Amino acid sequence: MIEYVFGVVVPYVAIVIFIIGVIYRIIEWAKSPVPLKIPTTAGQEFSPLPFIRRTVYDMVDCPQTKLGTVIRMFFEVFLMRSLFRNVRYYYDKNEHVDTRWLWFFAMAFHYSLLVILIRHMRFFTNPVPDIIETIDWVDGMMKYWVPSIYVTGVLALVSLAFLWGRRLFLARERTISLPSDHIPLILFAVVLISGTLMRYFIKIDLYDVKTLAIGLFTFQPPSYEVLRGIHWLFYVHLTFVSILIAYIPFSKLMHFVGIFFSPTRNMPNDNRVHIHINPWDPEIKGITWEEYYEMYKDQLDEIAEEGYKVRPEV
Ligand code: HEM
Repeated sequence: MIEYVFGVVVPYVAIVIFIIGVIYRIIEWAKSPVPLKIPTTAGQEFSPLPFIRRTVYDMVDCPQTKLGTVIRMFFEVFLMRSLFRNVRYYYDKNEHVDTRWLWFFAMAFHYSLLVILIRHMRFFTNPVPDIIETIDWVDGMMKYWVPSIYVTGVLALVSLAFLWGRRLFLARERTISLPSDHIPLILFAVVLISGTLMRYFIKIDLYDVKTLAIGLFTFQPPSYEVLRGIHWLFYVHLTFVSILIAYIPFSKLMHFVGIFFSPTRNMPNDNRVHIHINPWDPEIKGITWEEYYEMYKDQLDEIAEEGYKVRPEV
């Protein structure tokens, strides 16, 4: 029974919460008006003045067209461009300190997770597509252990340790870290550690896992016999993955969708070329002179008697 709850019910509930939650958040974001033109830029804006030149970095960091904005977004999403500028300036020492190790570990963490998820597709597919087999083979070229060690598995753990260590041990980062910053890291830590244990130390029956994974995917959960045969560590792994998935819509992990709705990133910096109208502005309906006169007839007549001209000149 307990195996059925953790192997079937919990993952399905998590997916439903994830789908409804993500759609809800997207609708909320899409409905939010953007009153101001607020792209954050870090480069020279386009100018028709010939002596104001722009480098290729300016064109990416300070786009003036929609195409430029798409290119900027591409660099942001795939290369974390803004994090690559992570340098600190200490005013008292007049010193620049390069802190781009954060960029390195953030990249390592995200790309490792991506490759791990692609590799995991081998549990959900039968036969396993060649591309997944190839990625699995390349990633597993460190044959110092049986089974071979995955580069991305190690990188994900190391980078998670750095990213979390930064929040735990650096005074400034610790001060600004909230529980909502630690929770995803804890969930990822449990998922990564349980996965690593299953692969290298506590061997589990992958045949049954695959039967369950494909069963979940095709909405035909396997028999109780199969579920009962799977090692408990797998259920720890799957349950924490489910908690992570269900937690996404309520958490900062939504940044993977939010980045596309971020007005500081998705707007071209064309303030000087196009007028940006605040969607909150009420529609202004003008009135005719006759309507105006009707509204303030007495006052206008009184003013006119004093010899002032009240009727507008046309
Ligand atoms: C957020 C999603 C997930 C992450 C980050 C994750 C991460 C990992 C990691 C790092 C490993 C160690 C081996 C490796 O590097 O591939 C692993 C192993 C494993 N994971 Fe996951 N996992 C996730 C989801 C799942 C799901 C949904 C299943 C269900 C089928 C699953 C089943 C397994 C199994 C069976 C192993 C052992 C593999 C082996 O012995 O070769 N994982 N996981």
